[in-house]
Amino acid sequence: MKQFLNDRLLLDGVMAHLRKPLPKHINLLFSLGSLAMFLLLLQAATGAFLALSYSPSPDHAYNAVNYINDEVPFGKFVRGLHHWGASAMVIIVFLHILRVVLYGSYKAPRELTWVVGVLLLLVTLGFGFTGYLLPWDEKAYWATVVGIEISSAAPVLGDVVAKIMRGGAEVGAVTLSRFYALHTIWLPWLAFGLVGLHLFLVRFYGSSGTPKNTPEDMETGKPFYPDQVFEDVVGMLILFVILACAALFAPVPLEDVADPTNADYDPRPEWYFLFLFQLLKYFQGPFEILGTFVIPTVGMLLLLFLPFLDRSERKVLWKRPIAMTVTSICVVTIVGLTILGATAPKLETQEEAQPADEVQQVTPPDTETTDIDEEEDVFDFQLTEEEIEGAREVGEDSQ
Ligand code: HEM
Repeated sequence: MKQFLNDRLLLDGVMAHLRKPLPKHINLLFSLGSLAMFLLLLQAATGAFLALSYSPSPDHAYNAVNYINDEVPFGKFVRGLHHWGASAMVIIVFLHILRVVLYGSYKAPRELTWVVGVLLLLVTLGFGFTGYLLPWDEKAYWATVVGIEISSAAPVLGDVVAKIMRGGAEVGAVTLSRFYALHTIWLPWLAFGLVGLHLFLVRFYGSSGTPKNTPEDMETGKPFYPDQVFEDVVGMLILFVILACAALFAPVPLEDVADPTNADYDPRPEWYFLFLFQLLKYFQGPFEILGTFVIPTVGMLLLLFLPFLDRSERKVLWKRPIAMTVTSICVVTIVGLTILGATAPKLETQEEAQPADEVQQVTPPDTETTDIDEEEDVFDFQLTEEEIEGAREVGEDSQ
């Protein structure tokens, strides 16, 4: 039997390849990529179970999530794993990028590995954005309304992209089924295709090792199999235990069912989009476009083309002062904005801020803003009357 499989699957060749030694000094940070892969698989597995009881329509989605929580055996646990797994994936991918940047592992000949990695980052964030709407509670609904509104600010294609995402004039039934299709079909296919390509490139070029590796060190470390694989699996088990504890002891938030007529709601995105959300607060009126489009797009393009911008061969960090300074500024800015966004006071409801008969007198985002106290440092996104009217119709339809 072994011989039969060996002849057909060339197992000996595959094993010889896997047993090849890695560079010397490979440390725990080199397990971050494998942990990201483990989390992607965990998300796919837990998501597949959640999908058995979920229904992507405004009439049923919220009840389905409650049903998973309260009635489905282990439903709460699986939902918890999926929820905390998503956050863990963003953190692990962020740390993985940081490791690759600090060790200069994006440099030639690994530019394509990096580019595919950046696409994986976008896919990871795409999972987060599309998944957030699915419970169809207040925060899901309003964060999506704001998220789509922000993307519509992009010049030329913004409106078209927003319309495609919404599938109509308002966030409603079509939006929910589109987000569900993206979350469960399009993005997983894309993610697994890109991960396959990423891993192929990683194996093809071999590990870049650490900056202190000399050329002689490159094939004299521990073998990938079984040593590195063993360390990766221990890391995965530890991560799983942490996520299982979070799923058991930290409740996954679920607010009231989405009410498209509740224009008082203070929308907040998931924590990993908070830095962008916070950024918007510093660019108002004619400068809004800087926060909604220019800075995020330029940042993403710089990240994508980093290996082509930094052509030096130096990898040791203290010999790369520009890389070190730019990376530190980016990390401090992202973490700082996230903390500011998380601790910003909740928006005073319009009913409290204005007399009841003026509550619906909201103005388009680009013209005027309501008289919210500037010192409050809150995001002044407001709906247009047209939007509120449309949203009300969606609400009535779905009841
Ligand atoms: C779902 C997301 C991702 C998965 C599953 C993944 C997986 C992996 C794995 C298993 C490795 C080899 C082990 C290691 O060096 O840690 C690796 C290496 C690498 N990854 Fe990722 N990765 C992901 C995202 C990213 C992102 C977002 C970037 C960059 C923006 C990136 C850039 C790289 C590079 C350049 C290498 C080669 C490192 C070297 O040779 O030392 N990856 N990735």
